[in-house]
Amino acid sequence: MSVPKEVLERIKRLRDEINYHNYRYYVLDSPVISDEEYDALVHELKELEERYPETITPDSPTQRIGAPPSEKFRTVPHHVPMLSLDDAFTEEEIIEFEMRIKRFLGIDQELEYTLEPKMDGLAVELVYEKGIFVLGSTRGDGYNGEDVTNNLRTIPSIPLKLLSHNIPIPELLEVRGEVYMEKKAFERLNREREEKGLPTFANPRNAAAGSLRQLDPKVTASRPLKIFCYGIGRVVGHEFKTQWELLNTLKKWGLRVNPLIKKVRGIKKAIKYHEELSRLRTELDYEIDGMVIKVNDLSLQERLGAKAKSPRWAIAYKFEAAQSVTRIKDILLSVGRTGAITPVAIMEPVKVGGVTVSRATLHNEDEIRKKDIRIGDYVIVRRAGDVIPEVVKPLKERRTGNEKVFVMPKTCPVCGSPLVKKEGEAIYRCPNPDCFPRLSKKIAHFVSKPAMDIEGLGPKVVEQLITAGIIRDIPDLYQIKKEDLLSLEGFAEKSAENLLNAIENSKETTLSRFLFAIGIRHVGEVTAQLISKHFKSLKRIMEASQEELEEIPGIGPEVAKSIYEFFHDEKNRMLIKRLLDAGIKIKDEVKEKKALPLEGKRFVFTGALNTLKRSEAKRIVTELGGEVQSTVGKKTDFVVVGENPGSKFEKAKKLGVRTISEDEFLEMIK
Ligand code: IVH
Repeated sequence: MSVPKEVLERIKRLRDEINYHNYRYYVLDSPVISDEEYDALVHELKELEERYPETITPDSPTQRIGAPPSEKFRTVPHHVPMLSLDDAFTEEEIIEFEMRIKRFLGIDQELEYTLEPKMDGLAVELVYEKGIFVLGSTRGDGYNGEDVTNNLRTIPSIPLKLLSHNIPIPELLEVRGEVYMEKKAFERLNREREEKGLPTFANPRNAAAGSLRQLDPKVTASRPLKIFCYGIGRVVGHEFKTQWELLNTLKKWGLRVNPLIKKVRGIKKAIKYHEELSRLRTELDYEIDGMVIKVNDLSLQERLGAKAKSPRWAIAYKFEAAQSVTRIKDILLSVGRTGAITPVAIMEPVKVGGVTVSRATLHNEDEIRKKDIRIGDYVIVRRAGDVIPEVVKPLKERRTGNEKVFVMPKTCPVCGSPLVKKEGEAIYRCPNPDCFPRLSKKIAHFVSKPAMDIEGLGPKVVEQLITAGIIRDIPDLYQIKKEDLLSLEGFAEKSAENLLNAIENSKETTLSRFLFAIGIRHVGEVTAQLISKHFKSLKRIMEASQEELEEIPGIGPEVAKSIYEFFHDEKNRMLIKRLLDAGIKIKDEVKEKKALPLEGKRFVFTGALNTLKRSEAKRIVTELGGEVQSTVGKKTDFVVVGENPGSKFEKAKKLGVRTISEDEFLEMIK
């Protein structure tokens, strides 16, 4: 039975229409009919194809899914090798790139470049014969890839048939592009997998790669993959002059091209656009890891040629990684305003998205258990939403066996109260209402203007520092690192440096400021000044008795008691020790003179000394607080007897004054 002509025509028309609407929807992102209208067209086509199965061709829009699973992917060659790109990270490297090109071409005029977002997915090649998609493969080693045609067919933004749009379809077209998964789709997929107890993907790139390399195309079809095309292999039946024209022609043929592509003259403008893209990047639905700069003129590209693995006419100007690998050194607890206890991973500092990161919230105990994060683990860290660093997952294959499982402490790290957890909640809380506010007030007082005067460290920042687990007591202030501050909202390079300088400068202080800062009950600014003036040294204040303190005019018994008790509390003595160890120097402190070893002792020398000259011996005695006499008297303490002593030796014996040898003297002054 032959198919009626009208049916054939209708089928052709339906296919063309559906292809066009696919293009509007998936490639241009601007549909011109409703979903219902579209569904009706597909429905009609399906019915006709069912009635007349002999009309079904592989490029029919109904034929995306349905190929049976394969056992193994066939290897297919790339006729034009799929090269990779050289990476550059700095402006200098980009300027260098341009100089290299100009040198190579022997020209000096400004060049034109196309700028394209560098997609973070996986490269594929699509082969179109007479406009029909016949073969699709992965990049593989660049020379041979895997035949993933049936999987690529399931990706809606890959046309099964090219559109002509007034530009004749070439006899043969090999298109290159990047298959990727959008960030939201990736998160949804991971959530679903988690619910099913399946392993999750580390990032959208891995999810895209894993989805495309499925033996069963049905699985690939269920994964929301997309493509952006950026280049070509062999082309028969069409000539391009520039990369810009190429990209725009691909678009016209119905292939999806990134809308953020740009053409510029001069490398400076390329550098500018890179800055723009790096800012835009977090707002995009998909991940990009840099910008590709390509010489626009294809004849120049040809002259420039390629090195072994990468072309000379293009470079990948990378952004700083938004995801990196580092090691967890420890897991500490931070206390929030409401008493919520959050475990924080303390990591070896690593750059993530241009910022050095050394700590990341682990949310709660359940989360740590679920992700199986252990102390000592190598982990993937990511800056989610561009601010808060997050531990994505541990790299279990890098474990040595020395990693430690985190055990949630039972008590608050700040006040020691036993922690509580409500039924059904994941977070532990400190039930002590004084805990966080007391700590934050104590620290805010310490850093305030009349105290240690740390500029830029107001109560809000203090709270941020405690909540992030960066500080837990006053001395921790002096351990803050730049990367700690950069992990807080509102801190940038400059503001972080300013605060660190202010903290450093506060180390040199006065006795009264320090005394006021440490927060002794009843000791305000004036009292602190009175005590400081009187005792002139921290050590003496710490050793003073209650009575001695009370003797200071203006200090009553209650204040004296409070000071005395403060300094006799081991916790406070420890606090002071830690502060002094951190490098706090009290400028106006009068150090107590240390008793000199020979203080008040009188010496007489007689006879020749072996090791010292008489004059040296005299100087040493005086420096050590002693006195040298010329004659022996009753008050003489020591007579130092050298070789061939004279009458002084006799006199000493007579008066019963102690005589010592030169060696004994040397021992005394050691
Ligand atoms: S051009 C010879 N353009 O980056 C030119 N590549 O390291 C080679 N990529 O394998 C590629 N976006 O997976 C080019 N706009 C873009 C790209 C892009 C992403 C990937 C592609 C390639 C790798 C090169």
